[in-house]
Amino acid sequence: MLIHSAGQLLTLAGGVQRGKALGNLGIIEDGALLIRSEQIVDVGKTADLLAKYPAEPRLDAQGKVVMPGFVDPHTHLVFAGDRAAEFEMRLQGKTYLEILQAGGGILSTVRATRAASVDELVQQAAERAKIMLKHGTTTLEAKSGYGLEWQSELRQMEALLRLDSQGILEIHPTFLAAHAIPEEYHDFPSQYVEQICEVMLPELRRWWIRNADARPLPFVDVFCERGAFTLPQSRRILETARELGFPLKIHADEFENLGGVRMALELGAISVDHLVKTSPEEIALLGNSQTVAVSLPCTPFGLAEAEYTPARAILDANGILALASDFNPGTAWCGNMQFVIALACRYLKLTPAQAIAAATINAAAAIRQEKRIGSLEVGKQADILILSVEDYRHLGYRFGVNLVEHVIKRGKVVL
Ligand code: NIG
Ligand code: FE
Repeated sequence: MLIHSAGQLLTLAGGVQRGKALGNLGIIEDGALLIRSEQIVDVGKTADLLAKYPAEPRLDAQGKVVMPGFVDPHTHLVFAGDRAAEFEMRLQGKTYLEILQAGGGILSTVRATRAASVDELVQQAAERAKIMLKHGTTTLEAKSGYGLEWQSELRQMEALLRLDSQGILEIHPTFLAAHAIPEEYHDFPSQYVEQICEVMLPELRRWWIRNADARPLPFVDVFCERGAFTLPQSRRILETARELGFPLKIHADEFENLGGVRMALELGAISVDHLVKTSPEEIALLGNSQTVAVSLPCTPFGLAEAEYTPARAILDANGILALASDFNPGTAWCGNMQFVIALACRYLKLTPAQAIAAATINAAAAIRQEKRIGSLEVGKQADILILSVEDYRHLGYRFGVNLVEHVIKRGKVVL
């Protein structure tokens, strides 16, 4: 299939965009690209490609923006229940961490998720995934973390693999048993940490090798935060995971700085996520590392907080910046990357071009998929959006509407 006559074809070619190089969209005006089976096999000017492939079936993108599908590298897609009542409590003055300390928050979603079957989890997550696809997300990372005991965490991992095999969109799973201290370990948190390290992680590795059809091991993530996991506990878990061969992620500096970024960089984490309270010294370290800084602007927005990731400072320090939704039932029930871009332009002070690169090629790097997806280049998987607008800056500029007209996943027009 030949997509042609794109007003602006955003290729995002050239690999990960570090520091101030962020925002290179690689625009081809009057652009075209050729898809064969699941792959992009040619990219160029419309006149050239129409001449080269005269017999190819055509899709006319007449003056529109054509770009890579969004990659959402941080979501909590699989859960049961909702926290609408807590939203109201927060509006009346209770804080997120107070609600968690009182046994609500993540722990309330854990109660609902433990009671759900794998089928129920898959079905609910699939509905959310379809909405994300409609808004242009073609690949996402998704975490467990609402089980906090082995069987229930495993059910979430199974749900993620099943959802991925349904093929609605592509899912890259993360194991987040270290999301909160479960109620039954409230008085002995270090025993839960040992349970994760001595039982769950080795068991997960065995289970994965037997059941995940030679897929690479999932990421292991920790919520390093007051009221969740301390810095030494987070280190114990991430070091154990690393020894077992798992790639690492961390939730750090969402509410308080416990030193999680420095530690995660030292351990070679693939990404460090949230980064609201990150110090200038740690931001400087990001500039010398391969670790991707993932900002989640829906979270402060969802919590009505004033402070966001110091994204400009991360770019000044030459860090690799990506954007994600953090889709979850507590702080940010929103999987719309167009809205994430709109927030990033306003509160992270990114240009639309920077936000788009952070939500595509750099977001792909945050899940180690930058060689396969995140740009429109020969050899890459054909995950493509056709927007209903003629100028890419409408992403960011407009919000609360869906600018995605067509979605192509693995070379097929799915919407
Ligand atoms: O990334 N901070 C920890 N985890 C999620 C929130 C999860 C929840 O509240 O259910 C986050 O913001
Ligand atoms: Fe999160």
